[in-house]
Order: sequence, then C-alpha cells, then structure tokens
Amino acid sequence: MSPMLDGQAPMEAGCAEEGPGPRIFRTEPGDSLQRPEAQQPPTSWAGRWCSRRCSCAVLGALGLLAGVSVGFWLLGLYPGPAASQLIPGTLQDEKTTLSCSEANGKEALPPSLSRTVSFRINTEDFLLEVQVRPLPGWLLVCREGWSPALGVRICRSLGHLRLTHHKGVNLSDIKLNSSQEFAQLSPGLGGLLEGVWQPRDNCTSGQIVSLKCSECGARPLASRIVGGQAVAPGRWPWQASVALGSRHMCGGSVLAPHWVVTAAHCMHSFRLSRLSSWQVHAGLVSHSTIRPHEGAVVERIIPHPLYSAQNHDYDVALLRLRTPLNFSDTVGAVCLPAKEQDFPRGSQCWVSGWGHTDSTRTHSSDSLQDTVVQLLSTQLCNSSCVYNGALTPRMLCAGYLDGRADACQGDSGGPLVCPDGGTWRLVGVVSWGQGCAEPQHPGVYAKVAEFLDWIQDTAWVH
Ligand code: ARG
Repeated sequence: MSPMLDGQAPMEAGCAEEGPGPRIFRTEPGDSLQRPEAQQPPTSWAGRWCSRRCSCAVLGALGLLAGVSVGFWLLGLYPGPAASQLIPGTLQDEKTTLSCSEANGKEALPPSLSRTVSFRINTEDFLLEVQVRPLPGWLLVCREGWSPALGVRICRSLGHLRLTHHKGVNLSDIKLNSSQEFAQLSPGLGGLLEGVWQPRDNCTSGQIVSLKCSECGARPLASRIVGGQAVAPGRWPWQASVALGSRHMCGGSVLAPHWVVTAAHCMHSFRLSRLSSWQVHAGLVSHSTIRPHEGAVVERIIPHPLYSAQNHDYDVALLRLRTPLNFSDTVGAVCLPAKEQDFPRGSQCWVSGWGHTDSTRTHSSDSLQDTVVQLLSTQLCNSSCVYNGALTPRMLCAGYLDGRADACQGDSGGPLVCPDGGTWRLVGVVSWGQGCAEPQHPGVYAKVAEFLDWIQDTAWVH
C-alpha cells in the first residue's frame, strides 16, 4: 500500500492541464509483473509525443495546419487541451477524460439500463419487499408462487453468496399500516424475477415472505475505530492474507466461511507450489502475530478459467478452505455488488493490504494498511494519457492521477471496497498498475461486478 504521502508535491493531474513548457513524463515501462506485457505504453517517438500531448488529433492538426496552428497557439487561440479551463475536483478528471479519449476516438459508455424490479429485505423483521417500477412504493411479497430457488436468486441479486433462511409469515401475526400493499408472483412464472409481479391489496394465502441471506459487509467494531493509517482489528474483517507457509504472498477477501477470493495472478505466479503449502489467515492485523498452525488450509484453488497471464484479464481466483473460518467481530464476509449495481466514477472506496508502503521498498508491511481511493472512469484510464487501451471490460481503475495513494506489490488479490448505505461491497480485486502511486498510473483492479455469476455458481457447485 502506498499511502497518501504528506509533502509529496502534487503533480499536474491531467493532460487537459498541459500547456507548452516542460512536463513530467515517464518513459520507463513498468516491470512485467506490474503491467500486462502485451500492452506496453507507446514507445515510438510519435507514441510518446502523442501521450505527452494527450492528443493525436493535435499531431494531425499540426501537420496539416503547420505554421497557422503554431501562430494560433502562440496567440493563445488554439482550441486544444491546453486551452481548456481547470475545473476543481472530480470534474477536472472528467475534463481530462474527455480530452484524452476524444483524441483517441473512444466512445462514452452507454448509460446503464434502469431496472424495473428491485428487492430489499427489511433489516428488522426480514420481510421481503419488492418495487415494481414505475410504481414508487415497496410492496410486501405474497407467499403464492414462492420457491426456495427464487429466494436464492434474490439473495444473489442483492450481492449475498447464499440464502440462509426463508419462511411464510401470517399477515395476522404482524402489525402493518393500512395502506401497505402487496405483490404476488404470477403463477407458472416463478423462475423469472422481472415483469411477473402484480400489485395486490392483500395476499390470498394470508402469508408474506420473510427472507434471510448470508451475512456480509458489516463491521461490528467500526464504531470503536478512530481515524488514521494504522488499521485496528475488525476494521476490514474480510481482509485475508494468502500465504505460502507463513509467508504473506497476496491479499484476499472472505466471501463465506469456506470461500476467499484473490487474484488469479497470485496463484499463477506460484503455481509450482504444493497445494498444501497455501494458507489463509483472517482476522489478522499484524503479520508478526501469524501462527502458521492457525492458518486455514486451502483445499482447492479455482482460478477463473479465462484468466490470461499476458494481460491479466479475468484476474480472479477462488480459494476453497478445508475448514471454515470462524466468523467473529474481526472475521466476516464482504458483500458482492448487487446485480447491475453501478458505483459511479468519483466514488470514495478503500483498499487495504500488507503490500509495500513505497515502490522502492521490497518488503511487505507488518501491519495492515489502508487508504481511500477514488473510482476513475475506464474511459479516462484507457486514454492515451494513462493506460492507453490496456484495460479490458473486466478491469477498473481507482486512485488518483496525481499519484497520491495506491495499492502496491503484495496487495494483489486484496479488497477494494465501497460503502453502500451501511453495507460494504467488494468492487475490485487488486490486480496491477505501473509502479505504485505514480502520476498518471492509478491502480487497476479486477472488476467484481463482471464475475458475479462465476463466483456465485462456483461457490454453489462446490
Ligand atoms: N501485482 C501486484 C501484486 O502482485 C499489485 C500491483 C498493484 N499495483 C498498483 N499500482 N496498484 O501485489
């Protein structure tokens, strides 16, 4: 983890700010472990020039308009990135996005489709509620047409690994306000979540559904934590250390007592090690307190079948533990993102791990570190100023363009979590980056939202 460094001079945040004059520009490509080999930054003269200026279009325009353009530039009339106004905060990032990606001819992502049916579970009495848009209200779910399979699908769609409990509750046994409405599943269509819910004034069965999904995303000790860099026990109860013997190799996140998710490249790098040498430690803050015999033995390593060691695409692996972890105040599961849940760019999320605390050090940190990072748009991250197209749709970027804070070697496989109300969701798995906390090179993460079905199906089957 490369935390916020006080006194580190902030560097120009984006290409949009660049004007004539000397610029900080790094040409050295990262080592192959840090950056997918297949997608090195441009190294030709033209490529560098393009990156530096953030606008291949400018190159073309200059070529065509030669003296005229230069003249305009000198007069301050050139309508390129250098002329754009600075906008503070995230908006400035947005400006950068546009100028870089426009130069690359990339298109904006289509807006995500709005859902018509949403579910939620009342945290007090575990009653299931459904919202069927365009109706605004939340309707209690009638028992008719209910099936355990539907419960599993609803828990999964809410980002839980499984269903733990479901039952019918008599309407006569509970107090409801008189305007409460209900929804009933159309008979014969029980397998579908969308479009088959009909609003009702009452339930013919006189029963509604109560549902509990596996617990996740809570920090029982959070109220005791005071600010600062040193992480207190229980702050990130899902943080795991994936170790060979007692030697920390990578981070991981607890999804269930038997399941930990990490990065596929961690497993790939040490694929010649014996399965029985792998251990998972949870509920740990300081590494010096590791007791090898207390680690959970890994029973199975399941890398994503499409993982590519060339470009780190599909960089996730599941570890099945031989004996379940004991959940407590300091060990617990993180939630997955809900289906179709979008964490927008600019969201403040957290990354944690025992990795290097600066890129020149070669040792893991003894104590768990964390830092807040901002989600960045893929459009920005894939622009010529940043990773120049190296991100696949299974990746996302988080951090800062001025290199303020980042994950680093040894943090791989660990969690990038974002708060969603009172629930923490695993949005990314630490995967790669050029250097650590380098300007213009934020951290790249495996995008968990792309792996929901694979994670849930795999943990279900085994
Ligand atoms: N690949 C690294 C590891 O194995 C993680 C690199 C993350 N780098 C970054 N700049 N965010 O630990």
